[in-house]
Amino acid sequence: MNIIGTGSALPKKIVTNDELSSFLDTSDEWITSRTGIRSRHVISDEKIEDLGMEAARRAIADAGLEISDIDFFICSNVINEYVTPGISCIIAAGLGMKCPCIDINCACPGFIYAMDIADTYISAGKYSNVLIVCPEEPTRMTSWEDRSTCVLFGDGAGAAVFTKGDNLKATRLSADPAPDKIWQFHKLTPTPYITKEETEVPLQMKGRDVFRFAVSTSARDIRELLAGVNMTIDDVDYFMIHQANMRIIEGIRNALGVEEKRFPTNIADHGNSSSASCPILLDECNRKGLFKKGDILVFSAFGAGLLSAAAILEW
Ligand code: UT7
Repeated sequence: MNIIGTGSALPKKIVTNDELSSFLDTSDEWITSRTGIRSRHVISDEKIEDLGMEAARRAIADAGLEISDIDFFICSNVINEYVTPGISCIIAAGLGMKCPCIDINCACPGFIYAMDIADTYISAGKYSNVLIVCPEEPTRMTSWEDRSTCVLFGDGAGAAVFTKGDNLKATRLSADPAPDKIWQFHKLTPTPYITKEETEVPLQMKGRDVFRFAVSTSARDIRELLAGVNMTIDDVDYFMIHQANMRIIEGIRNALGVEEKRFPTNIADHGNSSSASCPILLDECNRKGLFKKGDILVFSAFGAGLLSAAAILEW
């Protein structure tokens, strides 16, 4: 399949590290040096589905299509205010879209998982124009008294439109299931029959374990994916890495032995926006005119699950 449009939308509220230091035992120095994050966009009065709609509209316009041209819609999302229906249906209703839509919850690699699904359907001849939207609000998952998690995240939505073609060269999805590394519990409605204990627990993360997983898995995914299609690191113009931590991105870059200019980043202004991270970065680079036709982009993302994924896409 080919990519033909990108879009993104961000909450207007920007929270700096200094603002966080006013109510948390943290500092701009700690957050910047340990993560590379300086500020993040945080949901205030917006609804995440509205940001998803805006990102979708921009991606469809960038593709030169109408909403009615989209025949399959995939949403990648971890949390939103609705339990049901899926956020894909909420966004589809807002856009006036009638095609089939599904939700996936693959955490941070969700955009790449969605690309793999889109490619499978398009290659099978079932659909022609697939919209992927990743609306994410991870700032609603953490305790804002927990300095080890809440400083890391930011909200936003990224989107892309794909059509028939052979520009997606390969994808690699993988799982190393370990639900104790990143998790959150929410309480279900009690019934007269529930006897087990259920608790509400905000996002918990074994940061160092996830850090090690991220660097080693991403470097492995990228190397194996390229080798599988007889390409090398030198064939790649840009590495579009999930923006979780600047030290993780640098670790991957050093493991692959690649110079800085081929690793675009936006983590300083966004923090970790889960599956929205890759498509927001993609849209920002696209709007800046960074890519030229024929450039090879490699995507790599990792997160809760633990899941990871990578993809090679010719621009
Ligand atoms: O999207 C994918 C999912 N997530 C990730 O990719 C995150 C992966 N992990 C990481 O990015 C890093 O592990 C973190 C940024 C989460 C943490 O960085 P670290 O260098 O691994 O620090 P640490 O957890 O080992 O903590 C070092 C110290 C601790 O204090 P002590 O025990 O040494 O006294 C923490 O309590 O830093 C302390 N600390 C903080 N201090 C100031 C933790 N958070 C903060 C904070 N401000 N915000």
